Amino acid sequence: MKIILAGDHGAFELKKEIIKHLQDKTSYQIINLGVDNGESVDYPSYAQKLCSAILAKEAERGVLLCGTGLGMSIAANRFKGIRGALCHDEYTARMSRQHNDANVLILGARTIGVATALGIVDVWLQEDFVGGRHQRRLDKIEK
Ligand code: RB5
Repeated sequence: MKIILAGDHGAFELKKEIIKHLQDKTSYQIINLGVDNGESVDYPSYAQKLCSAILAKEAERGVLLCGTGLGMSIAANRFKGIRGALCHDEYTARMSRQHNDANVLILGARTIGVATALGIVDVWLQEDFVGGRHQRRLDKIEK
């Protein structure tokens, strides 16, 4: 599975940890769109890069990070076809896949620790959409 990651300066350290974690798993191909240092950038630019790449089918899934996850969440969900889920624990990560078919996971680096974030990422990448009544609800959102 191809996974694209992007984040702002508030989350570059957590993104680095996630990339290191995922690179150990052979089934994932990682694309990093930056930013890779603490120099201040504008999160909407990185949300746009990642969401455009997901919509262009350059990867199946995306992970967006900023300090709180809120800015990335607001920005990502402006893109038609992007279902961005701001998750704080493994339960919300699981539900965002099973019920919401989230194609972008959003994390707030200043709100959760590294171990929690890695657990969320693992669950989110493993879980599948269950369809059924949940597909009907997603169809309503798309319309
Ligand atoms: C950057 O300081 C911060 O505003 C950003 O990372 C994010 O939390 C915005 O929602």
